[in-house]
Amino acid sequence: MKRALFLAAFWLIPTLAAVGGTPVAVAPEARASPLPSKGPAFISIATGRSALVFAVDGAGRLQQVAFGRKGLVPPETTALPDWATDALPCAGNGYLLEPALQVIHSDGNISTELGYVSHGMKRETPDCVVTRITLRDRFYPLTVTLCFRAYEAEDIIEQWTEIVHEEPGAVVLGRYASAAPAFQAGAYWVSQFQGDVLREGELGEEKLTRGLKVLDSKLTVRAHFHRNPSFLLALGAPAQEEAGEVIGGALAWPGNFQFGFDVDWNGHLRVLAGANPFGAEYRLAAGKVFATPAMLWSWSDAGKGQVSRSFHRWARKYGVRDGDKPRPILLNNWETTFFDFNETKLLALFDGAKDLGIDLFLLDDGWFSDKDPKNHQRIGLGDWKANPKILPHGLSFLVDEAKKRGFGFGIWMEPESVHLGSDVYRAHPDWVLQQPHRELNAFNRQTLLDLTRPEAKEFVWDAIRRTLGGNPGISYLKWDANRVAPQPGSTYLPPDQQQNLPVDYQVGLEDLMRRMRDTYPDVMAMLCAGGGGRVDYGSLKYFHSFWPSDSTDPLQRIYIQWGYSHFYPAWALSAHVTSMGHRPLKFALDVALTGALGIDRDVGKLTDEDRLLLTQGIAVYRTKVRDLIQHGDLYRLESPYDGKRAVLSYVAEDRARALAFVYQLGETGVGPVKLRGLDPARRYRVTELNLPPGTKSRLAIDGRTLTGAELMDFGFVSPLSRAVESAVIEFSPAAESTVK
Ligand code: DGJ
Repeated sequence: MKRALFLAAFWLIPTLAAVGGTPVAVAPEARASPLPSKGPAFISIATGRSALVFAVDGAGRLQQVAFGRKGLVPPETTALPDWATDALPCAGNGYLLEPALQVIHSDGNISTELGYVSHGMKRETPDCVVTRITLRDRFYPLTVTLCFRAYEAEDIIEQWTEIVHEEPGAVVLGRYASAAPAFQAGAYWVSQFQGDVLREGELGEEKLTRGLKVLDSKLTVRAHFHRNPSFLLALGAPAQEEAGEVIGGALAWPGNFQFGFDVDWNGHLRVLAGANPFGAEYRLAAGKVFATPAMLWSWSDAGKGQVSRSFHRWARKYGVRDGDKPRPILLNNWETTFFDFNETKLLALFDGAKDLGIDLFLLDDGWFSDKDPKNHQRIGLGDWKANPKILPHGLSFLVDEAKKRGFGFGIWMEPESVHLGSDVYRAHPDWVLQQPHRELNAFNRQTLLDLTRPEAKEFVWDAIRRTLGGNPGISYLKWDANRVAPQPGSTYLPPDQQQNLPVDYQVGLEDLMRRMRDTYPDVMAMLCAGGGGRVDYGSLKYFHSFWPSDSTDPLQRIYIQWGYSHFYPAWALSAHVTSMGHRPLKFALDVALTGALGIDRDVGKLTDEDRLLLTQGIAVYRTKVRDLIQHGDLYRLESPYDGKRAVLSYVAEDRARALAFVYQLGETGVGPVKLRGLDPARRYRVTELNLPPGTKSRLAIDGRTLTGAELMDFGFVSPLSRAVESAVIEFSPAAESTVK
């Protein structure tokens, strides 16, 4: 709101500030140039609430006019405002800050000057409009198209750039941001979600100072190990949960990414977002279209809560595979057995899970190969045949045994990796990523196949096809990736295309993911990369869920899940009940309920009391939680970063039902829990769910009927007082449900 006023004030009183913060001298007519009389008026990429607006200046250059509240540019406007700035600043011809595009032309010229050519808009679906703005270099046959897809109801703008040329030789792309929006709020705060192993999703906000701040990753695979490819940008004041102007940005790309935040001396900010050009100066042949990965934006004037809700709604409809289907409740064996299992042990786990209510058993790492007498199963990583020493009757036997007990069967694979002891590596040592004249850097003797090499890529596809196609009963795949690429070189790519590898690896990977989705539409899939090393909307359209972290300690998971919730929906976040951290089972269960639920315990060995609690928790999830967290809206009520309690809630779209999850992190007493998003006039019946069998609720309002206004204005006293206690509270329609 503040920024809207700020912009409106500037609109009326032009100042002498330099255009877009560029330090170059700008002729006065370029500063407030009239719109070309015959040219296009404003090009507005609009959603329900927001708009990204462009216009062509008197010199035929595309300018960004606004990014914020829809309607910020009055329709009667006849001149470009002062703050209009290059829509896509190019290197080498006057722009002195960090460029969005740098092209080294085939004759060696490193400058680009783009002029507007045309634009078109097309309604793709009732909810989506695609806009394409074509720009062309004023001398070279180089065309750059800015592409946008506006999801109106979900308030998401998807933006990418396509580059193609007809120069006599290849051009080299030195910079190729997907998007480069500019802001004039004067002060900016950026939040990132770090990706370090066991601490993924950790939220950190900082104020931007003058100069260029870069958040990036360079690992090619497990690229999100450094941080997730998403950020929040708060304009004018630090980000708040339900107030203030905040923009959420997420790159739909599993590879290296780079977010640059460039604040100039006028306090103007340019954000450069896209694939990381580090070590990836891309050599582009004539006639071939280079499409950057898509950047997803959501603008909010009601804090980061609204950004998250927009992303979650969009994810359900567009961003995550089968967003309308319920996720199966899993029994996974990773933390229960690690590599120490065999058929007998697995069958015992199956038996223990009978009557618990699980949907599917997921067999994790270690089922393949028979290479090593000491049972180091990973030595055959890459060979992908069941180890007859531990699984004498093969995978299909396990599939059948699971079916007999009433559940499905899923399998773990790490298709991109090989062990140096595997048959495939020994036959084709040139198929892995490597640098000539350097010793192979293979952590634990494992390394990555080169997905730019067609034979290696086909080998990976064949492994997936043999595993899934050869065992048709398998209905779930966990696709893991544990290695990074410390030597991103290829024996397949020619010397002048070595730097294409970081991009082309992802192109190969995406092709494999797409084939997996299209060939096996009934096989659900989990995205995993040594924990949360690959969580992005470029991959999630092929997957049903993601593994957020190898930390399953519920106390730590509260922070991890909190972080991811800013961009990714709960129903796609795999959350397993394990014994990590040795927390009470009730606490572990209540934390996992706000995710795609799984169990990773030897359930046959639980005490009767715990087994009852787990069975009941699974039933509560199935009947009262799963649907609401998938189709409802998230309200983050109390942040674990702010105090000794974390509270979040989900409210049904029609506001008739809600669930609150209260987690006590320490001993300190805190005030009432206040809900949000309810219908103030409606009456809700309050019920505490998932109480340990034989115990009574300590919630004072349990069983009572209260209005939405009461629950939001006065709230309720939490029933919890000690660390690692938790409560799940349901607010359901009361018999007489509205206040007369
Ligand atoms: C890393 C994953 O995050 C774990 O869940 C597990 O699948 C292991 N890899 C297996 O090696």
